[in-house]
Amino acid sequence: METELSAARLEVMQHVGKDLDALMAEYLKPIDQNWQPTDFLPDSSKENFFSEVKLLQESCRDLPYDYIAVLIGDTITEEALPTYESWLMDVIGVDQVNNPSGWSRWVRAWTAEENRHGDLLNKYLYLSGRVNMRAMEVSTQYLIADGFDIGTDRDPYRNFIYTSFQELATNVSHRRTATLSKQFGNPHLSKICGVIASDEMRHAKAYKAFVSRILAVDPSELMLALEDMMRKKIVMPAHFLRESGVKMGDTFSHFSDAAQRLGVYTTMDYIEILESLLLEWEIGTIRELNSGAEKARDYLMALPARLRRIADRTRIPELQYEFSWISR
Ligand SMILES: [Fe+2]
Ligand SMILES: [Fe+2]
Repeated sequence: METELSAARLEVMQHVGKDLDALMAEYLKPIDQNWQPTDFLPDSSKENFFSEVKLLQESCRDLPYDYIAVLIGDTITEEALPTYESWLMDVIGVDQVNNPSGWSRWVRAWTAEENRHGDLLNKYLYLSGRVNMRAMEVSTQYLIADGFDIGTDRDPYRNFIYTSFQELATNVSHRRTATLSKQFGNPHLSKICGVIASDEMRHAKAYKAFVSRILAVDPSELMLALEDMMRKKIVMPAHFLRESGVKMGDTFSHFSDAAQRLGVYTTMDYIEILESLLLEWEIGTIRELNSGAEKARDYLMALPARLRRIADRTRIPELQYEFSWISR
């Protein structure tokens, strides 16, 4: 970003983060009281481990193909956490060397909570007996190596808009896989997806609060950032997802189709998340904007209806793709 703009962003970040301790206490959980992956998994140091694994595998045997594919895609998305942490550490105002008491602490603590998600899902899938783990691991390594391109630059405004959106999107998809799992007769897996979903909601509240604070001091610039992000469309963090021998991003579209077919994450969800953010940030009633930002606000307020009209016309492919991650 240009130096002048960067300096202004830095100032706002210092203002928004001035009571970061209070924010962290409100939106993150003390580590000793937080759940850990093994709380939800058979204990391999116990004698009944094998019988518990057997039960676990039985409860996974009838899970539908699309469902397993979506769960694997969700897991790989979580496992690409190194990409997200290193990206956020580079955002203007987050400086892990010169500002050890500031935003870098938030990024670390958030990462530390998120890290449990991939751990738990990965171990569960490994035990499930339904997954070609090596193929999944190859995809994970590819995704971390490929990184992502989310269009936020190093701008804290765009990044916090992105994370607000993404935490809500992951909340929706983990919540839906929880509901489906119960319907498929696997309450254990439902619980697992449910606890992850509630972490995502807590994180969403945090990022939404950060954006609200920015809005209070710099509404025009935030509005322009939001318009820019929505014009570009919010891409999923795993949009480069691939399998061995598959072009970068191609596996992602098959994963996304499966999620649409199952109703785990759909175009309608995208629109509803946008609407909820416009409401949360009271975008429609914000005054005292410069003329560019006023136009941005009007564009944003009209956007959900426009997206709805397009969504009505898009069809989800019925064709089931054969993922290398799963044997039929
Ligand atoms: Fe997560
Ligand atoms: Fe998250």
